[in-house]
Amino acid sequence: MIRAVYPGSFDPLHNGHLDVIKRSARIFDQLTVAVLHNRQKPTTLFDIEERLAILREAIDGLPNVEAAMFEGLLVEFCRQSGARVIVRGLRAISDYEAELQVAHLNRQMNPAVETLFVMTATRWSFVSSTRIKEIAQLGANVDKLVPKASLDRLEARFGPPRV
Ligand code: PNS
Repeated sequence: MIRAVYPGSFDPLHNGHLDVIKRSARIFDQLTVAVLHNRQKPTTLFDIEERLAILREAIDGLPNVEAAMFEGLLVEFCRQSGARVIVRGLRAISDYEAELQVAHLNRQMNPAVETLFVMTATRWSFVSSTRIKEIAQLGANVDKLVPKASLDRLEARFGPPRV
């Protein structure tokens, strides 16, 4: 029984995230998608309840996937939830350097947890939550880039697409 954790800010969840979730769920017995709740630095567009609600709607129908919130160290959350694997998506080489550093630090803090990288699907390799928020705020239609749950919240925040 291998339990994995896919952590992130998910502000908001996009199709690249969802692709990593679905592919990881085929590899591991149980996948927990863990949303970071940073009380010290609440810089997200959507609060923790909204990000979790989006995630729960989007993973509905995936039997071995659950949503959770975590605070503090990721490796501590892994220990508490019995996860042996951290999944992170890699879009391009530019992601690699930062991810490598974090993976090494996480392994130093908890050698029992392995970080595994999943290559993001080519069609989503240019998608990021930051860019989605930027263009949605400026009136772009992002319906091809995010699940409906995210689209509904983005439209509630920024209004319907104008271009
Ligand atoms: O979606 P993001 O913002 O790239 O996700 C980053 C995340 C949440 C995975 C990372 O910031 C994290 O694990 N934060 C919790 C604190 C921690 O354990 N940091 C890793 C050691 S440097």
